[in-house]
Amino acid sequence: MLARRVAVINEKGGSTKTTLVSTIGSYLALHRGRRILAIDMDPQGQLGKVLGVETRSRLHSAIDLLLDSVLGDASALDYSYGNAGDPASRPASTLPIVTTRIPHFDVITANKSLGLFPIFDGDEADPTGRLSRALDSAPELETYDFILFDAPPSFGPLTLNVLRAATEIVVPVPLTYLALDGCAELVRTIAMVRERYDHPNLHIAMIVPTLYRRTKLANEILERLKQRFPKEIAHSVIGYHVKIDEAQSRGLSIFEYAPKDRAASVMAEIAERLPATLELMLGAMAVAFAIALPLGVLAALYHGRWIDYLASGFALLGVAIPNFWLGPLLILLFAIQLDWLPVNERGGLEHLVLPAITLGTALAALLSRMIHTSLVEVLGEDYIRTARAKGLPERIVVASHAMRNAAIPVITVTGLQIGALLSGAIITESIFDWPGLGSLLLEAIYGRNYALVQGCVLVIAVSYIAVNLLADLLYGWVDPRIRQA
Ligand SMILES: Nc1ncnc2c1ncn2[C@@H]1O[C@H](COP(=O)(O)OP(=O)(O)OP(=O)(O)O)[C@@H](O)[C@H]1O
Ligand SMILES: [Mg+2]
Repeated sequence: MLARRVAVINEKGGSTKTTLVSTIGSYLALHRGRRILAIDMDPQGQLGKVLGVETRSRLHSAIDLLLDSVLGDASALDYSYGNAGDPASRPASTLPIVTTRIPHFDVITANKSLGLFPIFDGDEADPTGRLSRALDSAPELETYDFILFDAPPSFGPLTLNVLRAATEIVVPVPLTYLALDGCAELVRTIAMVRERYDHPNLHIAMIVPTLYRRTKLANEILERLKQRFPKEIAHSVIGYHVKIDEAQSRGLSIFEYAPKDRAASVMAEIAERLPATLELMLGAMAVAFAIALPLGVLAALYHGRWIDYLASGFALLGVAIPNFWLGPLLILLFAIQLDWLPVNERGGLEHLVLPAITLGTALAALLSRMIHTSLVEVLGEDYIRTARAKGLPERIVVASHAMRNAAIPVITVTGLQIGALLSGAIITESIFDWPGLGSLLLEAIYGRNYALVQGCVLVIAVSYIAVNLLADLLYGWVDPRIRQA
């Protein structure tokens, strides 16, 4: 049976062509048992890198398909090297085929020399049929079920070669501004190739919306794509998914990097991110108490004086300023203007400072008011008067008699505020690129990874309940009356 020849084309750079070729290929090979040959026709040569294949020889690559060497004295060339298996067991090949780590997934890589075509043999009037002819005259291609072409961005002789060699075209369309312009151009080019090169079978098999993020613009473009290509549009869209980038940076396919076992990968991902969020929350709590405790106590001791008004002014601001404003403001001042602290990612303590302040300020404001109110109330109680009357120093009266009694409402509020802290973490983490649960949840939502969204929400809900249980238990420890009741 003849292999199906599928080209992934879009003149726009970075439209996930290479990713799609490697993903489709890995999927068909790993999960459908098909034999795949992917041919990189992009001088950037990224397909080999993405597939984790070393491009060993400068010459043994896709350029050979286009040069006379293949069409001419093919027997003189032996390309039967690979990076897996026993080279001797492979038949001598006229094509520069390399095996990948994935069984039944082979590749012909490309390098910069491909970009020089057709300067190499410039004398031929029309060099756009070279690839097609080279493949037609290669008997070993019969062993493949699919031949996938990774086209270069921008139309030129290389893309024309691909269009003449392929019959089916897959077009990844990033759902961004101007996405449709390229499609219209491509449709015209296909019509031209069909007619001019007598290639009537060439057609768009599928339009794949990709890099989808849930925005109004993306949804509009998606709608217009559906109207324009009702038959060709793929049933599902590919979300923007950082995992894909991560997988490629490790030279793995997404199926190897984030394996099928959803539950396991959800657990693993959450476990990987949880410490970062806990660190951020502890940092925020530390900031909150470091500010709230002295401020609240001072305001209570000087109730109705200027310190009190200053403290309530701070509280008002702290509660009113949203994270998404405070965060960038702190970055502007401390990271960009003064260059004192780093902004992005997790690292040492200095990385924690800005995110913790961003997240902790609102809690600090709230707690300082709580501490103030409940301390003022307790300081007016009879037992405080008694403690003072028996001559205890004010320090002890406040620290051990008043504070302990004032702590109970503060603990309640702190427990309840953990929820706010967790939801605030989602914003704060995305501002500071903090690799925690909040940013994981956002990524999962963008990527429409429902299992992961559920996992994150579950963990957040459970930790909320656990913290409130802990707060209830703390009452007993702080107040013996509750323990004995
Ligand atoms: N669904 C996705 N979510 C997030 N990132 C993605 C996704 N698919 C691909 N990417 C990333 O986008 C970048 C561009 O992808 P890719 O190299 O496949 O595009 P391309 O069309 O082949 O580019 P070129 O035109 O330069 O050949 C890569 O870094 C890739 O890892
Ligand atoms: Mg590419």
